Amino acid sequence: MKKNIIHCLVFLIVFTSTLFAGNKKDKLLYKDAKQPIEKRIEDLLSRMTLEEKVMQLNQYTLGRNDNANNMADPVNDIPGEIGSLIYFSSNPELRNKVQKKAIEQTRLGIPIIFGYDVIHGFRTLYPISLGQASSWNPALVEKACAVAAQEARMSGVDWTFSPMIDVARDGRWGRVAEGYGEDTYTNAIFAAASVKGYQGNDLSSEKNVAACLKHYIGYGASEAGRDYVYTEISKQTLWDTYMLPYEAGVKAGAATLMSSFNDISGTPGSANYYTLTEVLKNRWKHDGFVVSDWGSIEQLRPQGVAANKKEAALKAFKAGLEMDMMNRCYDNHLGELVKEGKVSQEQLNEAVRRVLRVKFRLGLFDRPYTPESTEKERFYRPENLKIAEQLAEESIVLLKNQNKTLPLRRVSKIAVVGPMAKSQWNLLGSWAAQGKSEDIPSIFDAIKAEYKNQAEVSYALGCEFDGNDRSKFEEAKSIASKADVILFCLGEKKDWSGENASRSSIALPKIQEDLVMELKKLGKPVILILSNGRPLELNGLEPISDAILTMWQPGTPGGKPLAGVLSGRVNPSGKLAMTFPYSTGQIPIYYNHRRSARPHQGKYQDIPIAPLYEFAHGLSYTTFQYADLKASALSLKPDGKLTMEIAVTNTGDVDGYETVHWFINDPVSTISRPVKELKFFEKKMIKKGETATYQFIVDLKRDFGFIDEDGERFLEAGDYYVMVKDKKIKIEIVN
Ligand code: BGC
Repeated sequence: MKKNIIHCLVFLIVFTSTLFAGNKKDKLLYKDAKQPIEKRIEDLLSRMTLEEKVMQLNQYTLGRNDNANNMADPVNDIPGEIGSLIYFSSNPELRNKVQKKAIEQTRLGIPIIFGYDVIHGFRTLYPISLGQASSWNPALVEKACAVAAQEARMSGVDWTFSPMIDVARDGRWGRVAEGYGEDTYTNAIFAAASVKGYQGNDLSSEKNVAACLKHYIGYGASEAGRDYVYTEISKQTLWDTYMLPYEAGVKAGAATLMSSFNDISGTPGSANYYTLTEVLKNRWKHDGFVVSDWGSIEQLRPQGVAANKKEAALKAFKAGLEMDMMNRCYDNHLGELVKEGKVSQEQLNEAVRRVLRVKFRLGLFDRPYTPESTEKERFYRPENLKIAEQLAEESIVLLKNQNKTLPLRRVSKIAVVGPMAKSQWNLLGSWAAQGKSEDIPSIFDAIKAEYKNQAEVSYALGCEFDGNDRSKFEEAKSIASKADVILFCLGEKKDWSGENASRSSIALPKIQEDLVMELKKLGKPVILILSNGRPLELNGLEPISDAILTMWQPGTPGGKPLAGVLSGRVNPSGKLAMTFPYSTGQIPIYYNHRRSARPHQGKYQDIPIAPLYEFAHGLSYTTFQYADLKASALSLKPDGKLTMEIAVTNTGDVDGYETVHWFINDPVSTISRPVKELKFFEKKMIKKGETATYQFIVDLKRDFGFIDEDGERFLEAGDYYVMVKDKKIKIEIVN
């Protein structure tokens, strides 16, 4: 008996060790983390069937979105072979459950990549991108994106559909909230900063997510500010206005891009071989993948370039679009198209290779599951809240401050009036991901806390955001009559901007203007506090306001940064990244327009041609004096080196941040060029009484040269101007 047991044991040991050795030997190459990624991809590809390959190129949803437009029901029985899912949840358990199916119940165990719109934060929200741009602090934006990435990845999201870097010059378009404003260079800088923040140095880290540059390309040019419509973009404009941010994002390492909805002068962004393949893949050597926008392949039909879904799939795929977001075009037709020989095996392999590459880089094959953690471990870490608060502070733009109305120091009674005063929801901004309005301090609560024991703070609604109901005016008047100062908290509801949220007029609704007019009669200082997702038309209220500021939609910090600006605890430093037109009729209006043939004519008969607040406008509580510009050389050869400098002195009585914007102007060139082009900016803290020197190291070809309609850069001999505020200096390039 004993002998038998010993025999059995020996057999078991020999058997299991052979099994183990066998396993080790047979370990599939693509599952071996020690092998180089490219080898793993090829090994996996060689094992995949046509159907398995096609499934990698599709994205369905898991859970429901908060975007009214994208309310598709969750697919009930998600196939484990699916390439990607949009993950509308903050709970890693759900992800892990679905991932388990992919890993354990499919033949090859290919992990799913979970994507989500983490646009300005995940749970900890920071200001909308248009506000972030007004901070002119890309290093801080990078940190905020890193916070978003950490919260998202720990919650089961591997991939964010961000940043949106669509240059946009029409404030009627709701999506201006999601981008970094009207300027090409600004969008390029913030594109790179956010990609670095999301992706860090190592995509496989459990704190980082893959970025997605969107919407490639030209979506911001939507005609008349309407969503999803045609865009007329010449190749010249494509290159000099829209391409640079994408090129910068690709250079920064963005793992993916999203193709756009818009029809670009006859060829929609999702069927555009030139942009998707010639430029992105051939010229910029991007080796990640492109996902369609929601339904944008299928929409090639209504756009009039495909007769049916199959043709749409063929056009999009051939153009270079690898993943189908919610169209059901690739999963239904791509296999067939391969069998018919309309799509080659190699083309299919290349698309799958790109998707797998991003999955491998994210480490999904080696760590497919998200470690479980508590919400406390994931969200609202104190250091992260600080970043959001600083970014919200720096994004506030003081537009007007007559007679130093602000900061409000010696006041004992403050009336806080208006529909935004107690609203938390509207401060979230569009695409609020997993943000929670109940965690946001309202403007009223924040002001009360800021002025605790110093001033009595009273409140009246006054009116709703829109409509005609004036019945609450009297109550507001009576409360305001007892105060030293009236703070009007006005602006736009959360869903007045964002996707499919265009407005024909960017003016504040009349009822809000009427409320101000009515209370103005009390003769007290009028301070407008605006929360908005786009530039607003303010010409009616501007003349009667003592101070105006915009806090955009600040996210989680809510009213606190604003309260700090009101009390003087925070010195405002934001400057506009998008022009505030005098009125809607001036749109499109932007600082870097091209020259007019008759500058002295061509004006409006009824309104001025100047905007109300121009690009880069923003006041501080201190004053800055700019010395003259200095150049290391006034005349140079095209390969010369040029460094520009300007000294700025804080001549006021508080410390303050100052952003210096460096513009160039090329008055005569082969192609007509804008009156001003931003080429560099830098923000510095200057203590009161101190001077800081700002430097711009010019790369002549990059900064003075122009780009042509094929994307080639040229530097011509001639005169150029470098400009900072009202200072300018002529630099000559000689051959
Ligand atoms: C939007 C994209 C977004 C996608 C997924 C689309 O409707 O245009 O910006 O990333 O939905 O939610």
